[in-house]
Amino acid sequence: MDSSFFSQVDLCQLMRPRKVCVCNQVSEEEILTSIRNGHDTLEKLMDDTGASTGCGTCMGSVRKLLAQELKVPRA
Ligand code: FES
Repeated sequence: MDSSFFSQVDLCQLMRPRKVCVCNQVSEEEILTSIRNGHDTLEKLMDDTGASTGCGTCMGSVRKLLAQELKVPRA
């Protein structure tokens, strides 16, 4: 493993609270708060928080938080 791997890991460890969406610096808590405030679809969450509006890498994590918070069974 090269040293850049460890640098990325260390940077992630330093990010508190943990950012679900790195592109737009959106934390898990911000996403949960948005869901609890009625943004109960991915599109509404994206509009409200900006999460998943960049590279899209976080979309799976955002969907997972949405499903967990709304207690939707996973398909
Ligand atoms: S990490 Fe969320 S859009 Fe890129």
